[in-house]
Amino acid sequence: MMTHYERLGGEEAVRALVNHFYDLMDTLPEVKDIRDWHRKDLSQARQFLFEFLSGWLGGPPLYAEKYGNPNLRQLHLLVAIGIKERDQWLHCMYKAMEDVKVDKDLQKELRPIFFKAADDLRNEPDAR
Ligand code: HEM
Repeated sequence: MMTHYERLGGEEAVRALVNHFYDLMDTLPEVKDIRDWHRKDLSQARQFLFEFLSGWLGGPPLYAEKYGNPNLRQLHLLVAIGIKERDQWLHCMYKAMEDVKVDKDLQKELRPIFFKAADDLRNEPDAR
């Protein structure tokens, strides 16, 4: 069975996806709330998410090798994540997958996986 990482196209493809994801976050007015939570310079966020997704999608566990296994929920407690913020994040990820032309069937498989990951990070009163 091929991993999601392999089916995406490996390192270059994951990097391209993450880069486009942050380009969208940086420019789409409708995701301004979550953009404002990030630093002005997104280069570190790009690197972290690339390294994290690499392992999370079944490829080399770059993030865990450097920093250990992340507790994503804990790492996101500084950010007030409600439904609005979750949906802004997912909007960028779904659109990034479309724009970089991830295979349609693979997009269909990955969308609910990203949804669950983002939904699990909700920590606002509208959360559960
Ligand atoms: C649900 C909405 C989300 C919001 C609003 C959000 C926001 C943020 C913010 C503000 C940071 C700090 C960035 C920085 O230091 O410049 C961050 C870091 C990070 N996020 Fe998210 N995030 C969300 C969902 C996710 C999801 C679904 C994943 C994984 C699938 C993820 C993975 C990461 C990783 C790996 C980091 C780096 C952590 C570190 O500092 O080592 N995030 N996020």
